[in-house]
Amino acid sequence: MAEQLRYDGQVVVVTGAGGGLGKAYATFFASRGASVVVNDLGASSKGEGNNSRAADVVVNEIEAAGGKAVANYDSVEDGDKIIDTAIKAFGRIDILINNAGILRDVSFKNMKDQDWDLIFKVHVKGSYKCARAAWPYFRKQKYGRVINTASAAGLFGNFGQANYSAAKLAMVGFTETLAKEGAKYNIISNVIAPVAASRMTETIMPPDVLALMKPEWVVPLVAVLVHKNNTSENGSIFEVGGGHVAKLRWERSGGQLLKCDESYTPSAVLKKWDQAIDFSNPQYPSGPNDFLTLLEESMKMGPNEQGEKLDFTGRVALVT
Ligand code: NAI
Repeated sequence: MAEQLRYDGQVVVVTGAGGGLGKAYATFFASRGASVVVNDLGASSKGEGNNSRAADVVVNEIEAAGGKAVANYDSVEDGDKIIDTAIKAFGRIDILINNAGILRDVSFKNMKDQDWDLIFKVHVKGSYKCARAAWPYFRKQKYGRVINTASAAGLFGNFGQANYSAAKLAMVGFTETLAKEGAKYNIISNVIAPVAASRMTETIMPPDVLALMKPEWVVPLVAVLVHKNNTSENGSIFEVGGGHVAKLRWERSGGQLLKCDESYTPSAVLKKWDQAIDFSNPQYPSGPNDFLTLLEESMKMGPNEQGEKLDFTGRVALVT
């Protein structure tokens, strides 16, 4: 039988842990030996108001089950205060789960600046502020685990969610960069696009579907990704929900190289269109340098159809 994953002696900060997915993470990690900061502003699902009760209820539940937890009621926009709570209460931080979130769904035609700004404040700025405050501790102790929360809406777009989609895809780029910068300090960052029954989804999914989407069924993947044994998945994107776990990655078509002179016209692009978008020989890029390396490689391919020798003189500076 596989050994039970444990988090004894570790400190986990879960944002938005007063309900839904956050509560499921918080209770799980406390039950596996971690000390948990249960952060929740206690706002409505649209980000209005605040209430300390949401976090208190979860802390009480954890304590009643014999676990260790402390509440924090700050908005994730003040992430430094949330991380401070971890340091003051438990002396360290090992795992950050950026989970807090709100919705301001409205058709793009009717979207107001406030709908856009609030979504970005909570999801993007909130995740940044918490990670930024935890980062010096992670670097110093050469250990850290981060989960950021994206959404299928961010990966694929969704009606009425231009603000939310933009913010959620930002979580992917944010995670991919943290993964690269953190790697040499053993700071591992991954991003999930979860699906779960919560107050966020209870009005948009039918009850029989919601019954298959317990928040608890997102937890095991997150538990694996933030465990000390995970040293391989870093900067990865996962879809998770209803017992389904899958990894996503970027795919680039084989592409076409066109000569950059007066012949490079819109018509020249159209002429090569089918080859440019042909995925039969795909690549799976993982960094900005991949494209430049590709260009360099293409340029070494010898003469083009017109017999011209293409010479790429630019060198690719590899970022370490
Ligand atoms: P939820 O509404 O049950 O939980 C979100 C929690 O975040 C709430 O307790 C809320 O009070 C808290 N919160 C909101 N603004 C906050 C702030 N400024 N500071 C601190 N806490 C704040 O929602 P759910 O479903 O558990 O969502 C968790 C995360 O998963 C969110 O980031 C959401 O966008 C994401 N997500 C959820 C999906 C689902 O199917 N439930 C689908 C895709 C993404």
